[in-house]
Amino acid sequence: MWNDGGIDKNKMEAILASMVDGVMAVDMERKIILANKAAENIFHTTPGGLVGRVFADLVESREINYMLQEVLDTGREIFTETRLSCYSLSVFRLHIVAVFGTKQDIQGAVLAFHDITDARKFDQMRSEFVANVSHELRTPLTAIKGFVETLLDGALEDKLLCRRFLTIIDGETNRLTRLIDDLLSLSAIESKERRLTLKPIHMPNAILQVVNILGPQAAEKSLRMEMITQPGLPPVNADEDLVGQVLINLIDNAIKYTPDGGRVIVRVKRQGDRIITSVTDTGPGIPEESLPRLFERFYRVDKARSRELGGTGLGLAIVKHIVESHGGEVFVESTLGKGSTFGFSLWVA
Ligand SMILES: Nc1ncnc2c1ncn2[C@@H]1O[C@H](COP(=O)(O)OP(=O)(O)OP(=O)(O)O)[C@@H](O)[C@H]1O
Ligand SMILES: [Mg+2]
Repeated sequence: MWNDGGIDKNKMEAILASMVDGVMAVDMERKIILANKAAENIFHTTPGGLVGRVFADLVESREINYMLQEVLDTGREIFTETRLSCYSLSVFRLHIVAVFGTKQDIQGAVLAFHDITDARKFDQMRSEFVANVSHELRTPLTAIKGFVETLLDGALEDKLLCRRFLTIIDGETNRLTRLIDDLLSLSAIESKERRLTLKPIHMPNAILQVVNILGPQAAEKSLRMEMITQPGLPPVNADEDLVGQVLINLIDNAIKYTPDGGRVIVRVKRQGDRIITSVTDTGPGIPEESLPRLFERFYRVDKARSRELGGTGLGLAIVKHIVESHGGEVFVESTLGKGSTFGFSLWVA
């Protein structure tokens, strides 16, 4: 029944073998008479292991078997999205078509399995991301709205109160702006829209620049800042602005989360062909269970505290993206109550 189109068997097998989608054909008894390599992979069988088996023994799903029977009974074409069993994590788009003989009689069916697991996972991640963003935008907006309403309700008359509320509104608006800026830079790095302008960068210089910018913030909290480097360190090959952003985000965290009077130490050293930069603080440290999640977007160990400090939870996600877009790696070590070390590697120029 498969050869009447004039295409020879070898050619057809070559075509089927090259397909990414799993394809199999069954006869009227739902016995498998042909299957390609992709189908064998989907069902974890050895080469040739599918032919001769009854479809229902292979795929437990009643729904799929019911649809296959319908195609065999009626000749109708069916598209569906399905899992092969309730335990399976993979999601497939399944296409079932009838195979007709010369007299338009149904002789069997072809099933094509297209794996859409990644696409579904991506959809889920995207909707989680949208939910997170909306939540993050709503929090400052709710505060702004609340204070504006209180002002309109009469607090405007009280000059002192008025100033206090407007200061809060100002802070929340700044936070919204920062959140949107962070989201935009994250998406620009992710979409590779922003091309890296690589050039040799002397890490200690880049660090000094950032320490100068953040110095006043550290001084306000009486934090001692130090840099420890090795002599004769070679430059790294990196995008200057982006490296600046990585350093700002890490040093800003160290300053922000370390209590007054603490220390922040930035170290740079060479390790083979890489330059390792790390920022150590004497802050509160991070619980072990949070360590693997720190670089996720919007993840904060202590939501309330981070928000109070103006955090959006995107800083470390941006750090990770930038470093990885340079082919480097990020790391974190921390002991609760003692402090944390965040760091990253970049390639020597
Ligand atoms: N040096 C540190 N010490 C203790 N906790 C830290 C440190 N750095 C980061 N964290 C924790 O990791 C979380 C995520 O950090 P991240 O920089 O991504 O976000 P954020 O600082 O809250 O906000 P922002 O987007 O403004 O940087 C923080 O909320 C904080 O709980
Ligand atoms: Mg931060």
